Amino acid sequence: MLVTVDSRHPKQAKVDLLVLPMTQIDPDKWRLPPRLAAVDKAIGGGLAAILRSGDFRGRSGQRALVYPDGGVPAKRLLLVGLGEPEKLDAEAFRSAAGTAVGEAIRLEAKSVALAVPRTRPVPLEAAAQALAEGGVLAGYRFDSYKKKTNEKKGPTSLSLSVERAADTRPARAAAKAGVAIADSQNVARQLSNEPPNALPPIALAKAASQVAKEVGLKCRVLDVPEMKKRKMGAILAVGQGSVNPPRLVVLEHNPPARGRSGGQKRASAKGRRLPTICLVGKGVTFDSGGISIKPAAAMDEMKHDMSGAATVIGALRACALLNLPLHVVGVIGAAENLPSGTAYRPGDILTSMSKKTIEILNTDAEGRVVLADALHFARTEFDPVAMVDIATLTGAIVIALGSHASGLFGNNERLIDHLKQAGETSGERLWAMPLWEAHRKAVESAVADVKNVAGREASSSTAAAFLATFADDTPWVHLDIAATGWSSKASPYQPRGATGVGVRLLVEALQSWKNSNIV
Ligand code: BES
Ligand code: ZN
Ligand code: ZN
Repeated sequence: MLVTVDSRHPKQAKVDLLVLPMTQIDPDKWRLPPRLAAVDKAIGGGLAAILRSGDFRGRSGQRALVYPDGGVPAKRLLLVGLGEPEKLDAEAFRSAAGTAVGEAIRLEAKSVALAVPRTRPVPLEAAAQALAEGGVLAGYRFDSYKKKTNEKKGPTSLSLSVERAADTRPARAAAKAGVAIADSQNVARQLSNEPPNALPPIALAKAASQVAKEVGLKCRVLDVPEMKKRKMGAILAVGQGSVNPPRLVVLEHNPPARGRSGGQKRASAKGRRLPTICLVGKGVTFDSGGISIKPAAAMDEMKHDMSGAATVIGALRACALLNLPLHVVGVIGAAENLPSGTAYRPGDILTSMSKKTIEILNTDAEGRVVLADALHFARTEFDPVAMVDIATLTGAIVIALGSHASGLFGNNERLIDHLKQAGETSGERLWAMPLWEAHRKAVESAVADVKNVAGREASSSTAAAFLATFADDTPWVHLDIAATGWSSKASPYQPRGATGVGVRLLVEALQSWKNSNIV
């Protein structure tokens, strides 16, 4: 879908669907905003009639379709509710654009124009970015395995019409960023939706390197001999039960740092200027539980146990497209967790890359084992100022937070606050969970340095405490997306299935990195 920005009056838009977003009105005293009033006048009062009827009041999620009988070149008009004006935020725009594109798909409308309203609390740039994001995200479908539906029915163009000519330029830049971010989130969704037979660790690594090639990232893939050389005993153990061998993938966005004198320098080991931030993703391409096998119900959903990795790939893609002035490194631990004669077992004691030993009590707690090596590799190889890991880690977070927020844990309050804020801005909410000394104590093992499970109590926090051992003294946060990575019901810009959660969040956290006060 091509997203453009212009300052044409909506009443001149010659499109299949003209979308008119509106904030909620007071049924007793309301007035159409000037541009909508002009459209209303041109079509002979049909919009005002709907408002008078009370059928549409601009509530969030509300919509009303109008077929004008001449007066404007648009074939259809769609009123979309933005909700209460005082509560207006970027998310309202994302949802409105999602609703609009959803309707366009239903109506098979190819061209869509949307009148961007002038709204006080949300800056124009934020609105334009959110509208572009919502539109592009809503257009995504996982249909690559269905022959018949392969011809796209969705809209091919979305033009955002701003009120003033002077707004065109800033809105265009913001919409362009929104498209880059949402496209990258769709890349993440696609990878997570891929069936596990199509996406074993090698294929995931290949997908990462293809994305890297497409946008100009550096990509390195460590195979089993290399992982053995580096003594990555944890990730190797998780992968040893499958005929599909594990991989460790490194993606790097390393733009030239602008020197004080204006000269350009590479952010290389010597004279590096840009801070390094590592994003570490859990890439378990299928999680059967291994020898501690899972029950059959919904086991198919464990194809998305590589959603953290998919998000890291998507986020790095966006970093490159937006040319963020940071050295961002993605590290992905990819493995398949299957039971077999060669599988790792409960009772095994592994020596991780960090030399810390891990007692395995349940092979289904494999994500943290994979991340143990990925986190240690990231911090020792790149010496980052901060690390963020993202993982579909625990069933307990599904119970605690549901799909409303991802779990947020960490060892650095500033970093925690920074991510929390990025969550609010991006509409990918986080909720800070405790990570206390008691949780660290709980993962101490009688026979090794740590154990991979510590019972049912506070198991999202003890999982985080396990990871904290390997993050060591590097400022670090952990995002548990077990619930938010997958959506069993559709919403305005989210079709059923993989969500690509974390791409918008991480990109926002990186774009606003300066505010984090972590250098
Ligand atoms: N991949 C799962 C966590 C998960 C659950 C992701 C639901 C998405 C939806 C993880 O590897 C796992 O199995 N965790 C176990 C650990 C337990 C055995 C200690 C869990 O949380 O139940
Ligand atoms: Zn598991
Ligand atoms: Zn898992």
